[in-house]
Amino acid sequence: THQWRGIIEEYRDRLPVTDTTAVVTLREGGTPLVPAQVLSEVTGCEVHLKVEGANPTGSFKDRGMTMAITHAKEAGAQAVICASTGNTSASAAAYAVRAGMVCAVLVPQGKIALGKMGQALVHGAKILQVDGNFDDCLTLARGLSDNYPVALVNSVNPSRIEGQKTAAFEIVDALGDAPDIHVLPVGNAGNITAYWKGYTEYEADGPATRRPRMWGFQASGSAPIVRGEVVKDPHTVATAIRIGNPASWQQALAARDESGGFIDEVTDRQILRAYRLLAAQEGVFVEPASAASVAGLLKAAEDGKVDPGQRIVCTVTGNGLKDPDWAVAGAPQPVTVPVDAVTAAERLGLA
Ligand code: F0G
Repeated sequence: THQWRGIIEEYRDRLPVTDTTAVVTLREGGTPLVPAQVLSEVTGCEVHLKVEGANPTGSFKDRGMTMAITHAKEAGAQAVICASTGNTSASAAAYAVRAGMVCAVLVPQGKIALGKMGQALVHGAKILQVDGNFDDCLTLARGLSDNYPVALVNSVNPSRIEGQKTAAFEIVDALGDAPDIHVLPVGNAGNITAYWKGYTEYEADGPATRRPRMWGFQASGSAPIVRGEVVKDPHTVATAIRIGNPASWQQALAARDESGGFIDEVTDRQILRAYRLLAAQEGVFVEPASAASVAGLLKAAEDGKVDPGQRIVCTVTGNGLKDPDWAVAGAPQPVTVPVDAVTAAERLGLA
């Protein structure tokens, strides 16, 4: 009787819906806020992980997609389109199924994780691999939605931001107030925009007495906001945030400056170190892009930028199962044994 109803029902009065809106939902949101013991010890702070990989399609995109697809359906759209590094397409494809709509997907050829491609395929999306990067895909998708009867569901669609702001509400509801610092990976910069909007609304209306400083982290090979210029040929192992010209660039700068935060970069090596730490020491398996937030926190701590005693939330944006290559690579292959207890016990170091 107390099942979580999805973010639109749970936060209906804070979202742009009417009494007659037919909600398209997979009961997204309501994700765990997990205390991070090792990260807390290392930083001397109270660190929590907002585990967005627990959403129905395995990433935070579902919060935005329930809102975007609900609005597209309400407006009479029969088809939606998105550019994606993988997670948006997986989410759009699933929600389009719920709404009985066609979903078109443009992805950078060879640069999306297999799990995400599998999701878009099994949900029946029409997929084109584009001989270009994410930024090229987004340009194409915008043009197609301008000229054909198909609704764009990338985060340049304001409905996406409305849905995604609910993650900030959940965090304040769980902690009793906003944290001191909120740490996020930054790609197209929709999510940092959405969290800042959510925290701002909750402070204005009472549930929170303050707003956090927003810390965003890009991958070094894809860090246009840090560099202050478009990156023509972005690269990183964190394919989800392999983006050279973020659509919400200005909004990310606003979130940074209004909150007194910063946007910095982390190397692929730092991302993979945080990825392994999260799995091996916190028990939380995320995809590489998600680990950019934690890599950034660790970098800031090493640089002496983290005063002890603060309350910090890191969003880990996507599930590790989407892109398991990095979990398997470099790990020793498990040995094969006969069906024999003595051998098994020996090999496991039990005997
Ligand atoms: N983490 C993951 C796992 C993502 O998939 C993305 C974006 C981000 C972080 C960055 O969020 O773009 O709002 O700054 N993925 C998009 C996609 C681009 O197509 O799935 P952002």
